[in-house]
Formats: sequence, structure tokens, C-alpha cells
Amino acid sequence: MIKKNLGFQIVEVDDVSELSQQEQKLIGLSREMTAKAYAPYSEFFVGAAVLLENGEIISGSNQENGAYPSGLCAERVAVFAASAMFPGVSMKIIAVSATSSRLKMEEPVSPCGACRQVLLEYEILQRKPIKVLLSKENGKILIIEKVHDLLPLSFSGVELKKSGTRKP
Ligand code: THU
Repeated sequence: MIKKNLGFQIVEVDDVSELSQQEQKLIGLSREMTAKAYAPYSEFFVGAAVLLENGEIISGSNQENGAYPSGLCAERVAVFAASAMFPGVSMKIIAVSATSSRLKMEEPVSPCGACRQVLLEYEILQRKPIKVLLSKENGKILIIEKVHDLLPLSFSGVELKKSGTRKP
């Protein structure tokens, strides 16, 4: 039997002022984007901002729907828009922030499993890490160096492209 440790390191800063100007701008934008969320059902307002390698910043917010599963998280709204507008351009950093009118948020928001999977697809495609900055409306920020850290032992489309040995 072999035991393997798939743990990862996370950096925590007390305030946005400890980050680079560029990262501060992204966090600020993700916080502003929470005000543009359409989240009448959950009243949980999420904003995301993606910095691309060409310097463009694409932002998004969660969009809900009366038929609940039809809505989409802020992260996917932002990265899908980024990929649609600038296909093939690498994503460098995604900042995500959230606020709620119903509950007091103690911790920065953390992306759901589906968003991790979607982010990972782009990270694998571009062969460069996407840094993830997680926050709430103020206070501490969590920094994760790459999406892969958030989804260890993941399934990816790479598996589907491998030439198999199975006969037709
Ligand atoms: N949500 C996001 O947009 N991103 C996250 O990281 C967590 C959850 C949204 C989905 C839904 O509109 C609301 O927050 C409550 O789950």
C-alpha cells in the first residue's frame, strides 16, 4: 500500500494592500462586480474578474434563473466570456469575491466543483497556471497558485483524447 499526499499550499493575506497593484485592481473589480450579480433567489452576490495575457480584463457575476439549475456562477460567466471574446489567449489570474444580503460572510468565497472543472480545462489547454484570488467584500484574501491545486486527482478531457487499445 502506498499513501500519497495531494495537499497544496495556500497563501493568506490580511488585506488587499499586501498584493501587487494589478492584483489589487482585479480584486477591486471582482468586488464591484458583486453589485451586478442577478441573484434574487440566493441573495448571494458573486463577482469575478479574469486578467488575460494580452492585458484585457473580463469580468462576470452570477446569473440566476427561476428554473434554478439554469443559472451560472460568476467564475464561469467570466471565463466563458473571456474564451469567447479572446479564444486561445491565456488567462493569468482570476479574482473572485462575494457578498450576501442574508448572511455574514466569515471566509472568502471558494469556487464550486463545476467552476473548478471549467477553470482546469483552460489551465490545461494553455499549459500555464491560472492564479486564483479568493475574497469577500473586504478583509483577507486567499491566494492559490494554480487551479490544479483546487482539483487534485481530477478528470480532464485529456483522458478522452488518448488513443485507446480497445478494439471497435
Ligand atoms: N456562486 C458563484 O457564482 N460562485 C461561487 O464560487 C459560489 C456560488 C453562485 C451560484 C448561485 O447563484 C449563488 O452563488 C448561490 O450558490
